[in-house]
Amino acid sequence: MASQLDIQPQYSLRALNTFGIDAAAAHFLKVTDAAQLHALYREPSLRAMPRLILGGGSNLLLTKDFSGLVLHIATQGIAITGEDEQQVFVTAQAGENWHAFVQWTLAQGLPGLENLSLIPGSVGASPIQNIGAYGSEVADFFHSLTAFDMMSGELLHLSKADCAFAYRDSIFKHALRDRAIILEVRFALPKSWQPNLRYAELAAELASRGIANPSAQEIADAVIAIRTRKLPDPAKVGNAGSFFKNPVVSAEQRNSLLVQYPDLVSYLQADGSYKLAAGWLIDQCGWKGKSMGAAGVHENQALVLVNRGGATGADVLRLSNKIREEVQAKYGVILEPEPVIL
Ligand code: EPU
Repeated sequence: MASQLDIQPQYSLRALNTFGIDAAAAHFLKVTDAAQLHALYREPSLRAMPRLILGGGSNLLLTKDFSGLVLHIATQGIAITGEDEQQVFVTAQAGENWHAFVQWTLAQGLPGLENLSLIPGSVGASPIQNIGAYGSEVADFFHSLTAFDMMSGELLHLSKADCAFAYRDSIFKHALRDRAIILEVRFALPKSWQPNLRYAELAAELASRGIANPSAQEIADAVIAIRTRKLPDPAKVGNAGSFFKNPVVSAEQRNSLLVQYPDLVSYLQADGSYKLAAGWLIDQCGWKGKSMGAAGVHENQALVLVNRGGATGADVLRLSNKIREEVQAKYGVILEPEPVIL
């Protein structure tokens, strides 16, 4: 019954989104147990409401109050749940903090996730946009997950293939958006671990520390140092990490841009296309460190939009649109925002 669910009206989301935007949810439920979702499902009026599934709120821009039901996923627990010859399986509940989870695995002597240290957000959100950094992404270590299906009221067990992972993308942004509520994620961590130092900036950071054969913890420490230098701490300056995806263009478009802009930063993809560094494009348009009202562009990484204090979601969106227009006018490239914009 709905009365068993502690649904709170007009609940401020300010502390629950890393942009620090002051918006309210018409209805709010903190989910600490899958049984609450079953109860929710049994209540047609609640089931029918527009839903926002909120984890760490680190990939979200709220441009207005949310008129439906916000489900704040706060389930806790991490355990080693098995192993085979090649890998150790670790299962974490969706509400666990991502970085704390990564550190936990390292403390257990289970390497693999170190390149993904200090990414804000929760474990349950990590597969949704297939979080990635410094040459790794969640899909590399993902085994399977369990989610509650708001359409059928049943549990879904999804394999890696089912999740359709791609660059900052998965089925949870498409067919299962707002429908599957991720409850727990199972990771497969390799027993024969190899450091992943493909990302030049990470290799350089370790070299500068005089470390030739880094441990997983040393890699994590280097990643933490780089991120702390370049990315604003959401506890101090509101932001949602990279605000845009790095755009993928054809080799033809990249080559013609390169003629005009020899410094263009681009990365060849497996299919022959090129990923461009959106931060470089925005930086070249002169936006780094600039502001438009209370919304701004981070001083050390132009891909990150920030709340300089009291910004509304509409302020951030206005800045984002201005940047997109300028990048498109100068380079003919369309930038797509990375966060969910509501
Ligand atoms: N660059 C500039 N000016 C800038 C920012 C970047 O010239 O203001 C240039 C850099 O010099 C570099 C290139 O652009 O040559 C790429 O920059 P960086 O290495 O900082 O990485 P990124 O492509 O901007 C991506 C991810 C980050 C992730 C880093 C490290 C996306 C959208 N962003 O950023 O992920 O931490 O690589 O792997 O893919 C996030 O998704 O929220 C995020 C922070």
